[in-house]
Amino acid sequence: MIISLVGFRGSGKSSVALLLASELEMEFIDTDTEIEQREHRSIPEIFANQGEKQFRILEAAIIKSVYQRNDLIVATGGGAVLNPQTQKLIHDKGPVIWLQADAATTVGRIQKDQSDGLPRPALTDLSLEQEVIALLQQREPIYKSVSDFQIDTVGKSLEQIVEQIIQCLEGYDRSSE
Ligand code: S3P
Repeated sequence: MIISLVGFRGSGKSSVALLLASELEMEFIDTDTEIEQREHRSIPEIFANQGEKQFRILEAAIIKSVYQRNDLIVATGGGAVLNPQTQKLIHDKGPVIWLQADAATTVGRIQKDQSDGLPRPALTDLSLEQEVIALLQQREPIYKSVSDFQIDTVGKSLEQIVEQIIQCLEGYDRSSE
């Protein structure tokens, strides 16, 4: 079984996965970190040198290999679930949790990460605000359809989010779907 966290940039997937992994005493994998380690480059460098299309190919391949394993918590990149094979892989492997946040909160978190020296490559030619609004509109139906649980992260501490996830997992039974 793999517990997957999905959601847009800035939804807190990596920080939540880290704390959840320590609470559940499970191993945690961040697919972006896996990609960076295998490519020996940062995500912005991969986007700049190879482009988004190549990044998506690398991302799908890494996810395919990670999802051959078991007993993991995986934080997926915000665009990973655009790939239909990835959608199936993560859904088939266990519970999927969608961490939600509204556009304004998401923009604020991305800007904070940027000022903390954690830049993310642009995904469109739009302003950050417009990009977040447009992509959330495009991706939310996908996050919704692939997930078993949806958690609104706005105004909650990491600890509160993790507690809520643990409660959801206690009631998790795919066979009743
Ligand atoms: C992306 C999100 C990023 C990373 C890449 C593309 C996206 O991951 O995979 O920059 O398309 O939303 P995070 O969601 O961890 O920031």
